[in-house]
Amino acid sequence: MVPDRPAAARRRPRVILSVAVSLDGYIDDATPERLRLSSPEDFDRVDAVRAQCDALLIGANTLRRDNPRLLVADERRRAARAARGLPAHPLKVVVSASADLDPGLRFWHCGDKKVIYTSAAPDGPSARFGGLADVVAAGTPLDLGAVLEDLWRRGVRRLMVEGGGTIHTLFLEGDLADELHLAVAPVLVGQRDAPRFLHPARFPGGTGRRMRLIDTQQFGDTVLHRYDPRGWTA
Ligand SMILES: NC(=O)c1ccc[n+]([C@@H]2O[C@H](COP(=O)([O-])OP(=O)(O)OC[C@H]3O[C@@H](n4cnc5c(N)ncnc54)[C@H](OP(=O)(O)O)[C@@H]3O)[C@@H](O)[C@H]2O)c1
Repeated sequence: MVPDRPAAARRRPRVILSVAVSLDGYIDDATPERLRLSSPEDFDRVDAVRAQCDALLIGANTLRRDNPRLLVADERRRAARAARGLPAHPLKVVVSASADLDPGLRFWHCGDKKVIYTSAAPDGPSARFGGLADVVAAGTPLDLGAVLEDLWRRGVRRLMVEGGGTIHTLFLEGDLADELHLAVAPVLVGQRDAPRFLHPARFPGGTGRRMRLIDTQQFGDTVLHRYDPRGWTA
């Protein structure tokens, strides 16, 4: 159980939201196969950001649909982490209200430590994931602020959130993000049922406010926009 702490004592990691979107605002298509939106150069840029983070977080549906390994791919980056006394790969974190996750997915069987934050009674999931992951009760509804506090206590100072749309929406709506890395790929999806980057929500800036753009950079045919989700220009 995530312990309750006084507000003054709350500490949380720096949170980077990372996403690749199509030109028409989708983050996948409607087929079971994962749509690769980023260019090879942008995938390498994402790998570099991963290597600078202590933990990588995804939502349960992304785990079910994509079954990502969520590792640092580049050997030199892993070696650089090891030289700094860090595990070769960041902690892998899954947020799942139900904890209805297949323990056979490859996600659980590679990399370093894993944590599941869930609203489900912890006994069942703990038994199912025994040895594969720490299972932590995080309230009903699931409290992302408490998740961040628990990650801080585990030594996580820099957290990369890699989607999907439900999780990104919850972080932005809860004013829990410090950076937004939005990579735009020259791809059109055009499918009504494909998932979009964000869902309808009451965002802290309100409708129509302009988020501060930090910078843009090109990686192959993909353009990275970095935003400050707490900075507003108008
Ligand atoms: N292009 C990209 O950069 C990118 C990156 C990542 C993912 N994706 C795509 O995103 C899609 C998945 O996105 P998604 O929005 O369906 O799922 P998601 O954001 O990956 O995960 C959503 C899950 O979060 C859990 N959750 C925890 N607290 C919740 C709350 N308060 N409200 C609702 N859910 C809560 C639920 O788990 P339970 O179901 O266990 O209850 C829910 O199913 C996939 O198609 C994937 O390919 C794209």
